[in-house]
Amino acid sequence: MIEPISGFSKLTKAEKIDWIATKYTQHPKATKKILSKYWNTDTQLQKLHDEFIENTISNFYLPLGVAPNFLINNRLLSIPMVIEESSVVAAASKAAKFWLDRGGFKTTIIGTEKIGQVHFMYTGDDSKLQKFFTYVHPILLSDSASLTKNMKKRGGGISTIELKNKTEHLKNYYQLHCTFETMDAMGANFINSCLEQFATTLKREAQKFELFSTEEKNIEVVMSILSNYTPNCLVKAEVSCPVNDLKLSKNIDAKDFANKMVQAVAIAKVETYRAVTHNKGIMNGVDAVVLATGNDFRAIEAGVHAYAAKDGTYTSLTHATIENNIFKFWIEIPLALGTIGGLTNLHPLVKLAFEILQKPNAKELMQIVAVAGLAQNFGAISSLVTTGIQEGHMKMHLLNILNQLGATETEKEAIINHFKNNTVSHSAVIDAYEKLKK
Ligand code: MEV
Repeated sequence: MIEPISGFSKLTKAEKIDWIATKYTQHPKATKKILSKYWNTDTQLQKLHDEFIENTISNFYLPLGVAPNFLINNRLLSIPMVIEESSVVAAASKAAKFWLDRGGFKTTIIGTEKIGQVHFMYTGDDSKLQKFFTYVHPILLSDSASLTKNMKKRGGGISTIELKNKTEHLKNYYQLHCTFETMDAMGANFINSCLEQFATTLKREAQKFELFSTEEKNIEVVMSILSNYTPNCLVKAEVSCPVNDLKLSKNIDAKDFANKMVQAVAIAKVETYRAVTHNKGIMNGVDAVVLATGNDFRAIEAGVHAYAAKDGTYTSLTHATIENNIFKFWIEIPLALGTIGGLTNLHPLVKLAFEILQKPNAKELMQIVAVAGLAQNFGAISSLVTTGIQEGHMKMHLLNILNQLGATETEKEAIINHFKNNTVSHSAVIDAYEKLKK
């Protein structure tokens, strides 16, 4: 039986490793070796990574790849992507190249509004609360002036504060529903600081408000927090071309292909099981760029999927039409991203990713990420409606299998050659490898 430990966070890194290795792993020596293998020899760099989180014992690598040839609003970009799944970068690059010759991607920012809420309980007369809100509104703004000063200078700040009566959904439940403009910052810290100040002001001023009874004065703030649901922080990315130009390869008829693409999207619109996988493919592209640029992919995932269900049914994030012989394919996706703050100025590879992306501001990053999602979806559905995904997938997966088997470079080359004309499957690779070994 392993006893719980107290004061773990106070231990040194070596002590933490020692504890975890001896208590939880079969071969402590091997555990320590593998953990140290992933440390960076540059102690400053290692310290930087150690301090991102708590109780760090090593680094966890993910590949950083690049998908070139993205023409976005007539600007040619290479997109850095951090992802562990094979085929994603290849599919993005292929889609980028395909659309490069067809005018590239066009994008539009629809909105940049962020949201935060102070959730509170009020027991009493609703009309008095409305009067209190009129009274407190300017005080909420003046009390947070020191917090908003810098953001205002950059063109952002608090946009609106609304009082919402939610008592139909939950007894006594009200909220301050606030909207913000956070410019190039993702804005979580700014928003949460403002909200916590609103909560303090709300409680303090309620105590003083003469119209309130003693009970009404005791507004109970439950929590103050930004929302990761950002339906008005929205970007659109699209591609279009004449149906006849939609020739993927000489074996595939452009018109059939265009029709199948439209049908595939139509299916994802009406069938939740398909929509989830369809959108997962989009997130392959989105998350990879979000990660490479040091943004919070959990926030993006949560917000995007909520948006996909905004009309009551979970549905496709992309749309496709054929009108007047023009194929149009587009995405509308909420992306609350930042290009300053957080990891963006800290992680050397994130800084590099921004340099590769030509130092985008937050709006430009939203557009790039939306394009990565759209390209990924185009790549996935075009494979699905033509060859199926396994062909390309297994070719990429081949290398992973060979690495797992411990194949040498020469063995890898021989086996990759063999599978140029043979179907890849896990067992077929093992067979080929064993044959080669003999
Ligand atoms: C795999 O990671 C993503 C796909 O399943 C997406 C899709 O089905 O559209 C290929």
